[in-house]
Order: sequence, then structure tokens, then C-alpha cells
Amino acid sequence: MLAPPLRQQSLGAGRVSQPPCRRRTPNPNPFLGLPPFLAFRQQLGLFLLFLDLAFLGSVTMLLHRAVIPHLRQACRLKSAPSRLYIRACSTDDSLQPQCPSLAFSGDNSSTGGWKVMGTLLGLGAVLAYHDHRCRATQESPHIYTREEVRSHSSPETRIWVTLGCEVFDVTEFVDLHPGGPSKLMLAAGGPLEPFWALYAVHNQPHVREMLAQYKIGELSPEDKAPSTLKTSDPYIDDPVRHPALKVNSQRPFNAEPPPELLTENYITPNPIFFTRNHLPVPNLDPETYRLHVVGPPGGQSLCLSLDDLYKFPKHEITVTLQCAGNRRSEMTQFKEVRGLEWNIGAISTARWAGARLCDVLAKAGHQLCETEAHVCFEGLDSDPTGTAYGASIPLARAMDPEAEVLLAYEMNGQPLPRDHGFPVRVVVPGVVGARHVKWLGKVSVEPEESYSHWQRRDYKGFSPSVDWDTVDFDSAPSIQELPVQSAITEPKDGETVQSGEVTIKGYAWSGGGRAVVRVDVSLDGGLTWHVAELDGEEQRPRKAWAWRLWQLQAPVPAGRKELNIVCKAVDDSYNVQPDTVAPIWNLRGVLSNAWHHVHVHVAP
Ligand code: MTE
Repeated sequence: MLAPPLRQQSLGAGRVSQPPCRRRTPNPNPFLGLPPFLAFRQQLGLFLLFLDLAFLGSVTMLLHRAVIPHLRQACRLKSAPSRLYIRACSTDDSLQPQCPSLAFSGDNSSTGGWKVMGTLLGLGAVLAYHDHRCRATQESPHIYTREEVRSHSSPETRIWVTLGCEVFDVTEFVDLHPGGPSKLMLAAGGPLEPFWALYAVHNQPHVREMLAQYKIGELSPEDKAPSTLKTSDPYIDDPVRHPALKVNSQRPFNAEPPPELLTENYITPNPIFFTRNHLPVPNLDPETYRLHVVGPPGGQSLCLSLDDLYKFPKHEITVTLQCAGNRRSEMTQFKEVRGLEWNIGAISTARWAGARLCDVLAKAGHQLCETEAHVCFEGLDSDPTGTAYGASIPLARAMDPEAEVLLAYEMNGQPLPRDHGFPVRVVVPGVVGARHVKWLGKVSVEPEESYSHWQRRDYKGFSPSVDWDTVDFDSAPSIQELPVQSAITEPKDGETVQSGEVTIKGYAWSGGGRAVVRVDVSLDGGLTWHVAELDGEEQRPRKAWAWRLWQLQAPVPAGRKELNIVCKAVDDSYNVQPDTVAPIWNLRGVLSNAWHHVHVHVAP
């Protein structure tokens, strides 16, 4: 529900006991929220401002001598004061801030300094008064019944939620919710717990801290008993996982193999193949499983059992699957992004077998058409509203036998493991992992891309200067083919290597079937380069679906105490990885493919 903090800050955060000021539009003016009488007086000029100065200045001193330093903390004036606002702490309408902004820009007379001083003193007085009221009410928080909370479940009535015994007004946050407003609205007027149990990413200190900013009171003691809403664990039935996996989130389960295991084998063993789940893993019965393939108008829809799928020619290919968020943690180091902290292991390779999607679509009567069309996939994993995971790919790719898109039922010679889509998943060679829909329930051909959140509101790239206030998801294409990528898996960052010779290992891959033709490795941060040796399966032209593992034995230059090892790959279109993160940084931390660096010490 509520997710990592936005840059929104609030004055008097976590201190209010009444519904906050209704208008909190983002405004670059840090004085937003000043009561109207001050704004008006400011325009009257020097005379009235002298009065302000005298009057408000003395009020300021009388109210709180030590209030300003205290206010700084109370107001959480952390870093970006661009969205400051004052929350009302009183039911008295005359004291409710109406949030006008002061027009300082035209204030260029010689009296400006006095005006500013007077106004600041006035502001101090008002803030001190608010702080005083807030603290007074914090000592005795406003008490609400569950019934009252329930009645606040729409933008008109305002949107309240509870967590434990605390009550929050999240009206202003709903549109900013990264999972989409509809997900947060599921909890409107009730407890967050059942939803946080589903999206456990919320259970983090910074999310709680952000939620605290919206606190308006507490539940009455009679209502503090656990809600009648069933909060059973939706993940209780998830499969048991391999202990070697580095877990990025337990619920939903997201984990990657440690770097040293990742390139141990060209084919990643099933138990340590990275896992990226957005929802609980469905427990599907292979006997009753059916795949629905919607036919074209006038064609025939198919309802395929597993046995029906086995009757299509079996096609087997080696494909590397990479999540768009692989190496996100490096973007985070540059500047905060929203998403799971993947290291270099959100990538793995398997031998997949199944029916070709083009054969199944043809059986249903589909053919390539002149107009743009998309094949939409729906998973059988769903959230409490019944919304399933979904994604789509262009029909042209799906119908192209050379693109080898599979409805896979085997992974490395075994039935798909539950975490990887049992009994059937889509495998789209050369394309971002998000389109490889697991636990496949439905396939349809549509004139537009899937309307799924994960197709339209996620897995898209943006300019480094786009932030959460300016992002327009409709303006960017969904990620399909991924850019060229490589990373060092050995040695590990911070390790001590022997002097003499060092062995460096890693992987390299490119999207769209583009083969990796070279991997360059540097021991001195990119000043000089060695060419690594490529291992792994021979790559077919335009169908290089799988990674190359690579290694390099290089002499350690005499006298070096440290090495800054770097790798970069080149694909057969001569695409190369960018040297730094800064120009490719984006707010979701996707497509992170800058040169990979590992710093090691050299043993004396
Ligand atoms: N399919 C369903 N039904 N549900 C999901 O959460 N996650 C997608 C994709 N298919 C997902 C899904 C994402 S974002 C990725 S990267 C891959 O599955 C990960 O596949 P894996 O878990 O088998 O590695």
C-alpha cells in the first residue's frame, strides 16, 4: 500500500489530531501555508509591516522563546523544502491555514528587508502558535471509532486508514501511491494490515515514518480489539526456497543467487535461478489446469489442458532471463530510486521447453495482421481484488517462428518449479523478464498493449531529470528488448586477491538476440583494457538468446595495493555499456547497465 517515501514533507508531521488542511498542492514556495491576513498585510507595505513587526514580534517572544529550534525538528525541514505545508491543529476555521503563497518576487523596494524581517517574525509567531497547539493535542490524541474511520473511504469524505491503533488521513497520498491509487483504495476506511501482509515491502521503517506524517489520531480503546477482517497470511502456501538465495523481499518472494554461484554453471540450476514474484505463488493442480486462448472474431477459442499443450511440437531453447531491475542497487548508490535492491543476480539462464506460441495462436486462428496488435498474457496469481499479473508483447514477435516465443512447461528438463510458473509460463527470448508471464492462465490478441499495471505503470525508462512529480508513464514505451549488459561475479568487491595473477569472471548478455562479441576488462578503472575469453554455447545469428560467461587471467601490475576492476560488453550491433550511472539513472532504477566496478585489495 504505502511505499517508499516521497519528497513530500510536512510541518508538524505526526502531530496533528484533526484532519489536515484540505489543500496541500505542491508549491515551490516554502512559505506556502501562511495565513491570508499576513499575505494581505504584506501587500499593504511598510507601514503595516512595521505594525506586524511590532505586534507579531512581541507575540513571538511571548509565545515561545525557544520555539524556533524546536520547530525545525518538528517541521522536519530535512532536505527539499519544495512541498512544505502547514497542517491545521485546530477545529477553529479562522485558524485553518488556507495556503496562499506570498509574492516575494515583486518585493524589490528598499523596504524589502524590513518587510521580510517583519513577515518572518510574523511567520514565527504563527508557527509557534501551531506548534503549541499541535503539542497540546499530541499529549491527548484525537480519538476515533472504527465506525468513523469506515465513513472516510472516498476522496469526498477523505480517505482514512488504520494501522494498529493509529488513524491516518492518506487522502493526499492516494494519487502518489507507487502501486497505483486503486491498491491503496482497497484499504480505504479500514486497516492496512491485511494488505501489508500481502505486500510486505511496506513493513519497513521508512514507510512507517512516512505514514506517521499522515497520522490524525487514534482508535478509541473499545475499538482497539483486532479487526474482524481476516488477516491470514496469503504467502503461507509459498514453496520452500534454497538457502543460498539472497532474499530481497520475503513477501512477495524476490531473491537472487550470490555472484559466486551465478557463473559457476552456464545453465543456472533451478533451485538458485533468481525469482521475481509480485504476488503469492498460486498452487495449481496440473490435472485441472487449463490455458484459455481467445480466438479471433469468427475463430475458435481454445481451452488447453497440459496434455493438449504436450501435443504441439516440443521446442527447446536456452534463454537468459533478466529482470529490468537487475543492478538497481548501483543506481540507488547514485541517487535514491524506488524498487527492490537487486544486486547483479537478477539474471539467470535455463533450458526451456514447451509449445511455440506461434503454433498455439495459429491453432486458434490468429494470423499476423497489418494493424498493430499485441498478445496479452494473464497470470493466475492475483491480488485481493482478483487483479492478475499481466503483460504483453507485440503480435509480430509472438507470430514469428524465428522469435521462438514459448509456452514453456519444462525448465532444465524438469517440470517448471512453482516459483518459476508451474505448470506453464511464457518465455520471450531476448525480452525483459517482466513479459515472461508465469502461471499462465489466459492469452488474447488485442489492439492495444495489456492494461496491466506492470505493462503501463512500471517497467518503463525515463530521463534522469524526471521525478515522481513529473513522470508521465503514458509518454514512455514499455521495456521489451533489453540493452547490452555485463557484470563481474569474481572476485567480490572488497576481497583481497593474491599478487602475481588475478582471475576475473563474469557474465555478458544483450537483448533482442544480439550476440555478445567482446568483453573488455580493466584493472585500473578503465584506463587500459584486456579482452576476456568468452565461454558458453555458440550463438546463432540474431538468435543469441543466452548469455556468455567470460573470464580473464591477468597479471597484477607490480606494486599495486588495490585494483579497480571494470568490465563492459559489446554486442554485435556494437552497442556498448555506458561508463557511468548518472546519465542513465531513472526513478524506477531499471535498465541499470553501466560499466560494472569491483574494488579489491592486493595481498602484500
Ligand atoms: N508472472 C507472473 N504471473 N507474476 C509475476 O510476478 N514477474 C515477472 C515475470 N513473470 C511475474 C511474472 C518478472 S518482473 C520477472 S523478472 C520474471 O517473471 C521473473 O521470472 P523468474 O521468477 O522465473 O525468474
